[in-house]
Amino acid sequence: MIENQNPDPAASSPKLWGGRFDAAPDSLMEQFNASLPFDQALWAADIRGSQAYARALARAGLISLAERDQLLAGLDAVAEEWARGVFAPHAGDEDIHTAVERRLGEIIGGVAGKLHTGRSRNDQVATDVRLWLRDQIDQLAAALCDLQAAVIALAEAHLAVLMPGTTHMQPAQPIRFSHWALSFFWMWQRDHERLTEVRRRVNVCPLGSGALAGTPFNVDRVALAAELGFDAISANSLDAVSDRDFVVEFLAWAALLGIHLSRLAEDLILWSNPQFGFVRVADAYSTGSSLMPQKRNPDAMELVRGKSGRLLGNLVSLLTTLKGLPSTYNKDLQEDKEPLFDTVTTLTLALPVTAGVLRTLQVNPARMQAALSSDMLATDLADYLVRQGTPFRQAHHLVGQAVRRAEALGLTLSTLPLAELQAISPQFGADVAALWDFNHSVEQRATPGGTAAAAVETQLRQARQILAGG
Ligand code: ARG
Repeated sequence: MIENQNPDPAASSPKLWGGRFDAAPDSLMEQFNASLPFDQALWAADIRGSQAYARALARAGLISLAERDQLLAGLDAVAEEWARGVFAPHAGDEDIHTAVERRLGEIIGGVAGKLHTGRSRNDQVATDVRLWLRDQIDQLAAALCDLQAAVIALAEAHLAVLMPGTTHMQPAQPIRFSHWALSFFWMWQRDHERLTEVRRRVNVCPLGSGALAGTPFNVDRVALAAELGFDAISANSLDAVSDRDFVVEFLAWAALLGIHLSRLAEDLILWSNPQFGFVRVADAYSTGSSLMPQKRNPDAMELVRGKSGRLLGNLVSLLTTLKGLPSTYNKDLQEDKEPLFDTVTTLTLALPVTAGVLRTLQVNPARMQAALSSDMLATDLADYLVRQGTPFRQAHHLVGQAVRRAEALGLTLSTLPLAELQAISPQFGADVAALWDFNHSVEQRATPGGTAAAAVETQLRQARQILAGG
């Protein structure tokens, strides 16, 4: 029953479990215990799960068809209140499950008390979180695909643009800007694949596990799971009510995606510094300074970089909660929700914002070109000697000497006279001059995965095909 009928001390704040208690909870305890302020996000999943459970109870002959229909209609009415934003929580509503059941009792009366037959909030909450998370995963997967589409479009639009590639944040070798852009496509593709894996393990139905030991009633768990769109049922009730590894996996997935996003963000933040001026983040994703009139700050990217910290924190938070928990359900598990909700909320904004930044990014090929210098072709010079038969290690050393010599003479590698080069190695010929061409350098790297136009175009084709589901 929903309410304690007797005039007992606990009756002022009626509880689902009030029967064995002499005193009502302390008001701070009530506040401390309550998860409704955040777990109300689960209302639709909770009602969906309860409606399926009502049907399962009827199929098992535990309630009549009329009772089932009363439950279903009552749950529809409760859902309608949530959907319209008029559901009125009571002080004693501990969580979304008790709130829905309390309201159901008010609407349809005593038959509401039959809904929880053989069910516990322990299998109920695990079911709700899985149902909710599955939907969120589908939405995030779509947002991730859209981000991938945005980075493909950016790469396609700037295929001819060359820029300095870096390692250690130092100028290294010329690359295509589109090659840089597509590097994120592949990171996100692996994120996408990982998410598909996570979804598979999220989409398992714990309902019918009871509080911990299973249910004594003849509920058809397989039919129940199928009705809720689950791929499978959990094999062990103790595991089903107590593990949150599926949430951990999701949070780990999100943390890694966040780290990928933060790396993109860092590159764009650096490059939008006017001293680089390689890119400009559009006004729509930038802000100004309240003090310095000239400022144009790439806030969208700074926030994406910053939020990767909380995504990681949410993972660590839940892992820490789970560590050393005894079997089976413990109230500690209520702490799974805020990190989970926060991560979903964060990514639900961060993904489309990042896609927007990429779609509106202004690329400045002239600034990128101007940042290229002939020392970035030192490897090409060593490769030249390799082609003449010099072992690479030796060629590397000889070109190092050439770099040092150019520095000493106040010259660049490309303006070092041929005679100087030949003093270092007689294998240098006049055709060295052909090397001082960044496009030539880039086009040398035509093996699959390289930065030559043909290799980047192959990547683009692969990427487009993957995104088209091919
Ligand atoms: N709000 C609780 C949670 O999120 C629901 C399960 C409560 N179960 C219990 N036995 N108190 O974990």
